[in-house]
Amino acid sequence: MSQAFDVVVIGAGPGGYIAAIRAAQLGFTVACIDEWKNDKGGPAPGGTCTNVGCIPSKALLQSSEHYEHAGHSFADHGIDVKGLSLNLDKMIGRKDTVVKQNNDGILFLFKKNKISFFHGRGSFAAAKDGAYEIKVAGAKDETLTAKHVIVATGSNPRALPDVPFDEKLILSNTGALAIGDVPKKLGLIGAGVIGLEMGSVWRRLGSEVTVLEALPAFLGAVDEQIAKEAQKAFVKQGLKIELGVKIGAVTSKKEVTVEYTDAKGEAHKATFDKLIVSIGRVPNTIGLNAEVVGLKLDERGFIAVDDECKTSLPNVWAVGDVVRGPMLAHKAEEEGVAVAERIAGQHGHVNFNTIPWVIYTSPEIAWVGKTEQQLKQAGVAYKAGTFPFLANGRARALGDTTGMVKFLADAKTDEILGVHIVGPMASELIAEAVVAMEFRASSEDIARICHAHPSLSEATKEAALAVDKRTLNF
Ligand code: FAD
Ligand code: NAI
Repeated sequence: MSQAFDVVVIGAGPGGYIAAIRAAQLGFTVACIDEWKNDKGGPAPGGTCTNVGCIPSKALLQSSEHYEHAGHSFADHGIDVKGLSLNLDKMIGRKDTVVKQNNDGILFLFKKNKISFFHGRGSFAAAKDGAYEIKVAGAKDETLTAKHVIVATGSNPRALPDVPFDEKLILSNTGALAIGDVPKKLGLIGAGVIGLEMGSVWRRLGSEVTVLEALPAFLGAVDEQIAKEAQKAFVKQGLKIELGVKIGAVTSKKEVTVEYTDAKGEAHKATFDKLIVSIGRVPNTIGLNAEVVGLKLDERGFIAVDDECKTSLPNVWAVGDVVRGPMLAHKAEEEGVAVAERIAGQHGHVNFNTIPWVIYTSPEIAWVGKTEQQLKQAGVAYKAGTFPFLANGRARALGDTTGMVKFLADAKTDEILGVHIVGPMASELIAEAVVAMEFRASSEDIARICHAHPSLSEATKEAALAVDKRTLNF
């Protein structure tokens, strides 16, 4: 006997579990299926984000930053630390606890919202009588029927061709978050978001870190001025970043050897104790049985969707990493909410122009909207204003004055087109810019708003003033 639901969600990452909660809030009967297992084989909802992504990486970034501060920055504040030592087991254990708290939190939310949770793999079995039959293969096999299906099956790490992850020597994000001993020499392929975040963690804990990046420019998607400032800071910290490389053979026995040519075309052979491969992610449709019901994928393997996350099939929707757009947890969540609201006949809304990006390194990098190079390329006339944290009182008190806030505004209307930050707490500061852009504010609007003193947010106000060449503190 099958159980019938209004909405069945496949995948309980941030796209799926949030869609399920919103659908339940709107009065639908909802099931959510997820196959992720914890180390005891039990359910671990939350997807990549909770288990091997956003949450554990931020836990290790925080712990490793405390360690680095205790070893290096506390002395500047007149605090002498003697006998500092690293208990890596405990640090990793704390990270695992944080993950479990989040898994448990989601299970609690399912209960609270009367969502039926199924632990196992969900796949399409048939489409009949205007509904879909979904099989769950778990400890107990079940069949569900659904009027609407939301696919939120996420993404998997991309491996180098013919270099599979063994998670012992050649690591994806999963292995990178669970290394048992600090590697003396750590190699990373790909200087993207994971490369920089994971490289920062292990450098702070004592590894000699080399990052090998194919592109000739550092952080090509980031505003050039901000990327340059960040690169300077990372190199000063000791991250070795090689740009414009071409990776050749990768072999591993007790250690990993990477053959590559550098930007000048010279051949090199580097040996590492561990290698993290972070060269992007691929959509995950494995085991979904998309072909049984004729669910269309695009040429890159993503589930093909329109602007509203509608797939090629009636009443089948897809959200998050498995569809086009940035692979970010908050983008997945926004799409999940919007789809639940569309199913309810409401006008769900996702503004792709105001999705913020954050790289949680130190300094943090955060941005929303267009970069200067994008505006130039599009031929948009703009004004720019920047303000350095060096001239911000709160940053000086914190002892963290690297970086700047940069505003880009339309030359005629003064509407904010992009805000870019490299510096302390950029992840929090960017929220003001997102709100401003969502309300289509001008840089003058921000410049006229009272910001608390002393606060890092004054740098945002000053950068807005700088658009009109009238900073007060610089
Ligand atoms: P996922 O989180 O991948 O969830 C998909 C779920 O579906 C998984 O639990 C999977 O087991 C399940 N599933 C798949 N197929 C089936 C099936 N057939 N049946 C049942 N279940 C299935 N983003 C940010 O915004 N901020 C960050 O700080 C950040 N840090 C990151 C750090 C790392 C190391 C990584 C790897 C990613 C990070 N991301 C971050 C990206 C973020 O994790 C993803 O964008 C987000 O998890 C996507 O959510 P999702 O719901 O689409 O998919
Ligand atoms: P990425 O797309 O951010 O970076 C991959 C990098 O690898 C790029 O710079 C690319 O040029 C390079 N590359 C690709 N192939 C290569 C090759 N063969 N040799 C050398 N370099 C190569 O991908 P990453 O870091 O794997 O992260 C995946 C995604 O996960 C991110 O794009 C992001 O969407 C998400 N994420 C988000 C985080 C956040 O929001 N703070 C943190 C971590 C991940």
